[in-house]
Amino acid sequence: MTQQITALVTGANRGLGRHLAAELLSRGAKVYAAARRPETVDLPGAIPIQLDITDPDSVRRAAATAGDVTMLVNNAGVSTRAALLTGPIDDIRLEMETHYFGTLTVSREFVPIIDKNGGGAVLNVLSVLAWAHVPTSGAYAAAKAAAWAMTDAMRTELGPRGIHVAALHVGYMDTDMVSYIPAEQKIDPALVAAQAITGLINGDAEILADDLSRQVKAALSTANTVTAIRH
Ligand SMILES: NC(=O)c1ccc[n+]([C@@H]2O[C@H](COP(=O)([O-])OP(=O)(O)OC[C@H]3O[C@@H](n4cnc5c(N)ncnc54)[C@H](OP(=O)(O)O)[C@@H]3O)[C@@H](O)[C@H]2O)c1
Repeated sequence: MTQQITALVTGANRGLGRHLAAELLSRGAKVYAAARRPETVDLPGAIPIQLDITDPDSVRRAAATAGDVTMLVNNAGVSTRAALLTGPIDDIRLEMETHYFGTLTVSREFVPIIDKNGGGAVLNVLSVLAWAHVPTSGAYAAAKAAAWAMTDAMRTELGPRGIHVAALHVGYMDTDMVSYIPAEQKIDPALVAAQAITGLINGDAEILADDLSRQVKAALSTANTVTAIRH
């Protein structure tokens, strides 16, 4: 991408989303920092905007406000750690409503905007668990796997229209989502954000941000992905 970037980052009030928004700001982009509660956005220079990715009315309102977007960063996510066979069905639905339907709803509103603005890019924040399907996070893994398939389908459809679609895969980052995992097993989300934006701008289809995601990707053809995961 050589044009001036106007980005919208979902879940930009904390965690990786905040780092992605900060990284884009540091590169001179105009950034809409989308959050369920925009009053919690504390990034100087960013434009807070209300957005609950599971609420179609909220997504439509955000799209009506941010009509100059050329880059969409689908970052917002949840982790209930629900097991598929024994976990609460509401948690399992929440994972799919958020990672799959929420990301899809936001994309369906913002892709036409990016198109109208001459093309651009979409980044979907996935996970190593899109590939390694551990039973203790079955709901999350299934939802991220669905989002992975969606990402590939979107890339194939939108590439010819000048909209590049990339997937970010990462193991564990030091954010609220995985506070239960020891610090030495987690990567700094700022490092992930820098790699993600560089990869997106360079036109990479897949950004593998840490050793774990690289190991699991390499193990895909052996069907031994789960052995690389400790949790
Ligand atoms: N942390 C990891 O180890 C890890 C690893 C691989 C991938 N990921 C992925 O990275 C992304 C960011 O996660 P994180 O680690 O930064 O988690 P986090 O610190 O828990 O932040 C999650 C963010 O998503 C937002 N969010 C959740 N549901 C939303 C909804 N329905 N609408 C709008 N925003 C919503 C949250 O907003 P509120 O403040 O309103 O709750 C928050 O801003 C997620 O897609 C996650 O699955 C994380």
